[in-house]
Amino acid sequence: MKQKIMMNLLLATSMFLVFSGAAQAEGDAAAAKEKNSMCLGCHGIPDWRTAFPTVYHVPKIGGQSEQYLIDALNQYKNGERSHPSMKALAESLSEQDIKDFAAYYAGTAGN
Ligand code: HEC
Repeated sequence: MKQKIMMNLLLATSMFLVFSGAAQAEGDAAAAKEKNSMCLGCHGIPDWRTAFPTVYHVPKIGGQSEQYLIDALNQYKNGERSHPSMKALAESLSEQDIKDFAAYYAGTAGN
């Protein structure tokens, strides 16, 4: 009897996780804008300048395709790409952060 209650509880919890996960599946560009200060020092969005252009070659990421940006950030995160500062940063980002940033930067084309 007690076991059955536990099972139901587990089931309810996992259902909840599935649904709340689904609700966040899309990248939220507005959310990224609030977190964006940690990227701006290096990545100029159009009309912004990189902080150290002579030190870093920083790729322009505004206007890239959303999927490309998601892939690139995941590659830094999982070590497939090894740039030290991007790797450290990407490791601190959640899956949702990555989607948010991708949505944000993909939407800055042509500015
Ligand atoms: C300390 C400077 C610095 C900061 C801060 C920084 N980046 Fe980068 N980023 C770089 C450099 C340098 C590269 C190129 C690295 C390489 O050659 O792999 C890069 C590469 C990238 C790429 C891959 C671009 C491509 O064309 O493949 C993406 C996407 C990216 N950064 C996103 C971000 C996001 C999002 C943030 C904020 C969370 C951020 N970066 C913060 C310096 C920085």
